[in-house]
Amino acid sequence: MSDRGEVVEEGATGRRGFLAVLGGLTVAWLAAVAWPVFRYLSPRPPPDPFGGEGKALVKGVAPGDVARPGQGSNGSYGGRGLVVFRGPDGQLRAFDSKCTHAGCNVQFQGDRIYCNCHGGTYDLEGRNIAGPPPRPLTPLRVTAEGDSLFVSPMSS
Ligand code: FES
Repeated sequence: MSDRGEVVEEGATGRRGFLAVLGGLTVAWLAAVAWPVFRYLSPRPPPDPFGGEGKALVKGVAPGDVARPGQGSNGSYGGRGLVVFRGPDGQLRAFDSKCTHAGCNVQFQGDRIYCNCHGGTYDLEGRNIAGPPPRPLTPLRVTAEGDSLFVSPMSS
């Protein structure tokens, strides 16, 4: 019994303290397990295909492959696909090859850019003209430097 006449159970305070510590440790353990799972499952921003340098080397297509109007090919840059070709006006053009419908790789076909997955069709300006693609292809600025082609974002 306390000074004020209350009945105090000696073990109750000790048990409450132990349960509070046990609860805190449980929460800490759950957080330690859940955080790595959350980080693993949360989406990350895609890597910059230009690697912070503002331009990327085109692999799989050389300047000689697109020397004449109507010539073009698929290649890659910074881990992504692209189509590069010389248009009927003699201008060198490049687009990221990721179709704006569901992400398949489009193919240069001389007079158009075509997606085999669902029949999406783009004109040589990259505009979606037939099929399900909702938006134009992403254009890239392409330049020839010696024996190599480089692409950079149109906005730079
Ligand atoms: S992914 Fe290209 S048309 Fe569907």
